[in-house]
Amino acid sequence: MKPIGVFDSGVGGLTVVKELIRQLPFEDIVYFGDTARVPYGIKSKETIIRFSIENILFLLRHKVKFICVACNTASSVALPIIKSHFKVPIVGVIAPGVREAVYATQNKRIGVIGTSSTIRSRNYENQIKELNPQVKVIASACPLFVPFVEEGWFGGKVVLEVAKTYLKPLKKAGVDTVILGCTHYPLLKPVIKEVLGKKVKLIDSAQQVAIEVKEILTGLNLLNKGHSSRHKFYVSDNPEWFSRLAKRFLGRPVPKATMVDNV
Ligand code: DGL
Repeated sequence: MKPIGVFDSGVGGLTVVKELIRQLPFEDIVYFGDTARVPYGIKSKETIIRFSIENILFLLRHKVKFICVACNTASSVALPIIKSHFKVPIVGVIAPGVREAVYATQNKRIGVIGTSSTIRSRNYENQIKELNPQVKVIASACPLFVPFVEEGWFGGKVVLEVAKTYLKPLKKAGVDTVILGCTHYPLLKPVIKEVLGKKVKLIDSAQQVAIEVKEILTGLNLLNKGHSSRHKFYVSDNPEWFSRLAKRFLGRPVPKATMVDNV
């Protein structure tokens, strides 16, 4: 059976791979992390679209049966535009998180946090409103969160102060549910909880997207019937950096990533 293809701007998409492995233990996975061009979160729409198309073409060369866009920025900015141009089924990480958040909120106030490009696209907001127009959405870009996580800063005074600043509008609006709209943010759950309070529900789209992938593969009769589970990792730069950080996102060491220079 063919593998599932997953791409992200770098290493953060491994939070999605972790869930895919947990929920679909018998699937082969090909992961591409665009470490040469990360971060996507501050780039223009045109550039994110071009990079996403190139990443999909790379995965198709590996004969994937299905593609999961693990990057929230690529999912919100590029996916709505490019999805219909490919025959292979493609899912992103936005819709599954939106569905769970709309289901979870009691007071109809949902917070969304993500990279600057994700928040600028208003994709989360639009999808939430489509599901329930009565929900009030409070969105906040948190650009410093990605470098914090990559530097291994998950808490402490500086991170807490920055989190307080970013999350102030959400707190003020009294949101009861917050979508962690970026691959890196699940690693900052403790500090986000500390700022917003224990009662606020944090939605981690990685778990939801794996449920959706499983449902779609089952529906299309594409689940791997055998018991293999080969996981291959490709990057466009610096495999050593990728491997060093990968453990943090995947929860275990990854086999050495292969460097590719012709994405
Ligand atoms: N993977 C990106 C996302 O989920 C975060 C890192 C970046 O800016 O490329 O939005």
